[in-house]
Amino acid sequence: MGIIARIKRDGFRRTAVHRLLKKHGQLRAFIFRALLSENKPILDSAKIVQPTQFSGKGRITISKARLGFFPSPGFLSGSGYLEARAENAIIEIAESTTINNGFTIIADKSSIHIGKRCLIGPDFFAADSDFHGMSVEDRTSGNYDCKPVKIGDDVFIGQGVKVMKGVHIGQGAVIGSGSVVVTDIEPFTINAGVPAKKLRSLPRPQDNPAEATSSHQNTEAAQL
Ligand SMILES: CC(C)(COP(=O)(O)OP(=O)(O)OC[C@H]1O[C@@H](n2cnc3c(N)ncnc32)[C@H](O)[C@@H]1OP(=O)(O)O)[C@@H](O)C(=O)NCCC(=O)NCCS
Repeated sequence: MGIIARIKRDGFRRTAVHRLLKKHGQLRAFIFRALLSENKPILDSAKIVQPTQFSGKGRITISKARLGFFPSPGFLSGSGYLEARAENAIIEIAESTTINNGFTIIADKSSIHIGKRCLIGPDFFAADSDFHGMSVEDRTSGNYDCKPVKIGDDVFIGQGVKVMKGVHIGQGAVIGSGSVVVTDIEPFTINAGVPAKKLRSLPRPQDNPAEATSSHQNTEAAQL
């Protein structure tokens, strides 16, 4: 929408404040990326709206995905954090995926892959690691294993979800708000709770041809 149309719709004062806050967000995003981040992510036309710190020695690749939303909860006060800690650690976020504000994604010694066209709500957490050993002697020794996390294409994750190490979330699944996911999730199912459990199945796109052709064509337009 053009500036004149926006002023007509929202009034001058609201439009001006909106613009100012957006610029403030862009400045914060620049500071987080250029001055706070030691990792150089591979950003293939990614849209980084939320100020995001990129950390670690590994590889972070974001392909035509979007991190953060304005206006949306947590934009003004929050930030995002992506860390591929070890040299062989990998974070991949595939095209047309949107992650809302306040996310933390850490690949410690293995990988986190997020598929295409996923919609992920605010305050998302995912890690491939417990970061500390379980036995008291190993709490700070670095002697612990990591397991890759994989989130399939077309997954919808509600607000405040945590995805723990080794989990595979199948294509098209829904994860309810506030869930903690500790075991694999079947494709095309709705799941919720702590720990997340299956509530019911969803139709697969081929069961509903109209949905298969129209769904998720434009995640740019999707508001979380
Ligand atoms: C998971 C969700 C999609 C389920 O919706 P639904 O299919 O309409 O499910 P219902 O409301 O009929 O609830 C079914 C059961 O699941 C439970 N349930 C629903 N959402 C839950 C949640 N987030 N956590 C725990 N249990 C949940 C209900 O209590 C109900 O339990 P019961 O059968 O024992 O009574 C929805 O509750 C949800 O969490 N949506 C995500 C919203 C969100 O965060 N969007 C992004 C914001 S930007």
